[in-house]
Amino acid sequence: MVDIEQIRSRFIKHFDGKIGNIYAAPGRINLIGEHTDYNGGFVFPGAVDKGVVAEMRINGTEDTVMAYAIDLKDRVDFHLNDPAGPRTSWARYIYGMALEMRKLGVPVKGFNIAFSGDVPLGAGMSSSAAMESCFACGLNDLFGENKVSLWDMVLAGQATEHNYCGVNCGIMDQFASVFGKAGCLMRLDCRSREFEYFPFKPDGYRLVLLDSVVKHQLAGSPYNDRRNSCENVVKHIAEHHPEGKFETLRDCTWEQLEEVKAEVGEEDYRRAKFVLGEKDRVLAVCEALNEGDYERVGELMYQTHEGLSKDYEVSCEELDFLNDIAKENGVTGSRIMGGGFGGCTINLVRNDLYRQFIADAKKRFNEKYGHEPKVYDVIIGDGARKLC
Ligand code: GLA
Repeated sequence: MVDIEQIRSRFIKHFDGKIGNIYAAPGRINLIGEHTDYNGGFVFPGAVDKGVVAEMRINGTEDTVMAYAIDLKDRVDFHLNDPAGPRTSWARYIYGMALEMRKLGVPVKGFNIAFSGDVPLGAGMSSSAAMESCFACGLNDLFGENKVSLWDMVLAGQATEHNYCGVNCGIMDQFASVFGKAGCLMRLDCRSREFEYFPFKPDGYRLVLLDSVVKHQLAGSPYNDRRNSCENVVKHIAEHHPEGKFETLRDCTWEQLEEVKAEVGEEDYRRAKFVLGEKDRVLAVCEALNEGDYERVGELMYQTHEGLSKDYEVSCEELDFLNDIAKENGVTGSRIMGGGFGGCTINLVRNDLYRQFIADAKKRFNEKYGHEPKVYDVIIGDGARKLC
């Protein structure tokens, strides 16, 4: 947990001695449904008990933001009316959120902010969405009389990634961070934006993340590249079927994908194949959960890993190794989680196998890569909120 007293003392020390309001927003896990959000498919995330906490206060200036990143001991001041904005990457999330909230009609002016977080960076748990939703929540409260809807905050967070941070992400992370509810996973249809809370208390099992501590870099990147492949396939399918409406891979069938296989090339074909399969897997997981069939949930998680590794090519050697260790230890389900290119595996493991699995993973990973993976037991927490 982030230490609120520490945030308050830094806020007082670095600014004018006055206190502000404190806001929090979480990172997320995702049980299944990876790289489906920007394809109009389904996702199955939940908020975690780790997140970002910020103290914020209006400072009376027209557009000066004074910002302090407590964990980095880094202070950046900038102007909201400066079209270039700050260069420092963490400050761009504040700048971007403020400008996106302005677009929604919130009259954002100058403010002071100090923040800290405990979502491990680069672990695929979306520390960036935690920042965005936390800042959105604060700006909505300080300047917007809390009139901006939760969905608009989600979309403003996503727009911040697109417009100021170079990641063409979907809406899963910001959605989970804003709408999260303790004890519940959420199934979201990313096309219609309808969602359902699923209380998640698997009897006899638990969820644990193993963090390879290999960092991924999504900006400017292989992530956007995957998205382009998907859009390219949709474009080709649409050309074949001028009568239809094809916005994302969600609108496309397996047969239609086969029709364009030769034109789009092997790589784009394989990527689209993964996405179509993943869309079906999320629905199958929901069914299995309704029946309490966790072994089936686990099988589907392994299938997702296989697809992300071989077809979507967003895994890496270290994560494939962790996945193999899970399999060998009889872990029910395991897969790479989040955008990929490093980060965590998410594991559904029977309580009686947990200790042995963790011990074996630590030992063997350490022998091979010279450090142990980090272990995070998943606790499903609440979404963005004002603390005080
Ligand atoms: C990142 C993005 C999300 C989603 C996942 C992959 O976390 O921010 O929108 O695409 O990758 O499922």
